[in-house]
Amino acid sequence: MCGIVGCIGAENAYSILIKGLHRLEYRGYDSAGVALLNDNGELNVYKSRGKVNDLERFCESKDCSGSLGIAHTRWATHGEPNDVNAHPHCCQNGTLALVHNGTIENYAVLREALEQHGCSFRSETDTEVLVQLIGYIKQSSGCSTLEALREALQQVVGAYAVALVDREQPDCLYAARKSSPLVIGIGDGATFLGSDASPLVEFTDKVVYLKDNEIAIISRSEPLKVITNDNTPGKVDIKTLKMSVSQLEKGGYPHFMLKEIFEQPDTLHDCIRGRIVDGKVLLSGVRDNEEVFRSARRIIIVACGTSWHAGLIGKRLFLDLARIPVEVEYASEFRYSNPVVNRGDIVVAISQSGETADTLAALQIARERGAFAYGVCNVVGSSIARETDSGTYIHVGPEIGVASTKAFTGQVTVLAMLALAVGQLRGTVSAEQVKEIAASIKALPGIIRTTLKLNDSIRHLSGIYTYVHNFLYLGRGVNFPTALEGALKLKEISYIHAEGYPAAEMKHGPIALIDNELPTVFIAPMDDLHEKVISNIQQVKARGGSVIAIVTEGDETIATMADHTLEIPRVPECLSPVVSAIPLQLLAYHIAVMKGRDVDMPRNLAKSVTVE
Ligand code: AGP
Repeated sequence: MCGIVGCIGAENAYSILIKGLHRLEYRGYDSAGVALLNDNGELNVYKSRGKVNDLERFCESKDCSGSLGIAHTRWATHGEPNDVNAHPHCCQNGTLALVHNGTIENYAVLREALEQHGCSFRSETDTEVLVQLIGYIKQSSGCSTLEALREALQQVVGAYAVALVDREQPDCLYAARKSSPLVIGIGDGATFLGSDASPLVEFTDKVVYLKDNEIAIISRSEPLKVITNDNTPGKVDIKTLKMSVSQLEKGGYPHFMLKEIFEQPDTLHDCIRGRIVDGKVLLSGVRDNEEVFRSARRIIIVACGTSWHAGLIGKRLFLDLARIPVEVEYASEFRYSNPVVNRGDIVVAISQSGETADTLAALQIARERGAFAYGVCNVVGSSIARETDSGTYIHVGPEIGVASTKAFTGQVTVLAMLALAVGQLRGTVSAEQVKEIAASIKALPGIIRTTLKLNDSIRHLSGIYTYVHNFLYLGRGVNFPTALEGALKLKEISYIHAEGYPAAEMKHGPIALIDNELPTVFIAPMDDLHEKVISNIQQVKARGGSVIAIVTEGDETIATMADHTLEIPRVPECLSPVVSAIPLQLLAYHIAVMKGRDVDMPRNLAKSVTVE
């Protein structure tokens, strides 16, 4: 998620823009920039890799005057985080500057067409394609900037929130949105723009939430005007803002973690977007390295924490769908184990931050010993991503809560697509199987949205278990790692001891723990091992243990046994960890909140463990 700020009519636009960027830094940043139109009609564009503070230092010696400007903090999706790829981007003749939040899916086709018309590009971004397209339409047809913007937006496919400044129109700022948020603040003598209301809240409480396919014409002297992409008048619906800055950054949720749990339908949509077409999986990381994946003799997955749990699930997926032997290693153990790695092995490094020291070191060792290095990361241009030969980003946006939620479901979804793509390549899955699983992957955002409706019942259920001292999480097959993940979520934010185990392993010792003070969470969807899990539940109940069971909707058998059942929609077995994770995240969250824990920043933990 990138952050956009704009303003027109303010005495010192620059200071408002910079302060607004700081307010939006929680949305993620790897570079930032500003475009200012000064009173001499000069359009000054300054941008730099790094944080907003780095941009401020860069601007110290620059002309930052002017009462019209736009600014941007970037969370890279296309192109490395660097000065050139940072926003704003300008058209060919430098008269237009644009900032953008979103993804333009057909940018490559548009770029090729513009190059054929003589446009030259400076960056790798989809955003530059858009502003160059606007400039080209304006120049080639002689139409107005507004008309060129409108025409360009009709040609792009994808999501966008944009702000546009035209050097030749000092009295006007344009904004438009489709799927990415944009808020206009109506001030006294000045008008403001933000990706959310946090940059505006200190200047005004009168806001207009731009709707999809709308364009706003924000002028110095005229009232705000809104039109639609097909040029019909839009309604200016002014609302009064009632949220604090802190609430705004969390989207109105009490914690980033809950916001990120509820973001998962959208983040999975972004994760999957453009990667399943006509019932087939299209991953550039596989397409560009077909021979590597076709001939691979072994996959070694290295990761830590939640990412390691995703790796264990990935192992099952590769075994089932691509029939490749897989080893999953704690990165911290692997790096000191003098590992046997051969040419022809693929090492997959899974890391949300892309900066985990153990994972980076493990990846480097495997690569030095001949493995092909593949990354499954969230942060574009992160150290681990840069250290790999190829990879697939999970595209779930910045994850602020220390306890990983949307990154985990994004990782497992990418691993499912990766295993399917490799299975397609190696011929270990039929076209029918691919089509069926691919359709289920595409349906995941809706399924997660349905599953999130469990929130209220889980919040009530959590009150029963707030004061227990231990929890067991049990699952089988692909849901044994899910049990590990559920236990980790509870441990790290509530500080209650919790242990994940393969359900069948209980009889080899841990069942001695069962009594009426030790609740057990079972991940028990309708799959090939369902009957086995039922007998495990019976073993726990027979010894006085209480059972919370995550079951497939309509499972009346377990409902008669468990103390509490949480019903999730039916999905193919290989995808059940993605859906089962939701009630586990919510259970941990609500218990932790009831215990008064600092959910977003639990004690002793860091979001990214960049040291050993
Ligand atoms: C997960 O909730 C934890 N915050 C932690 O285990 C995390 O998954 C681990 O540190 C790995 O981080 P990474 O994915 O950024 O490499």
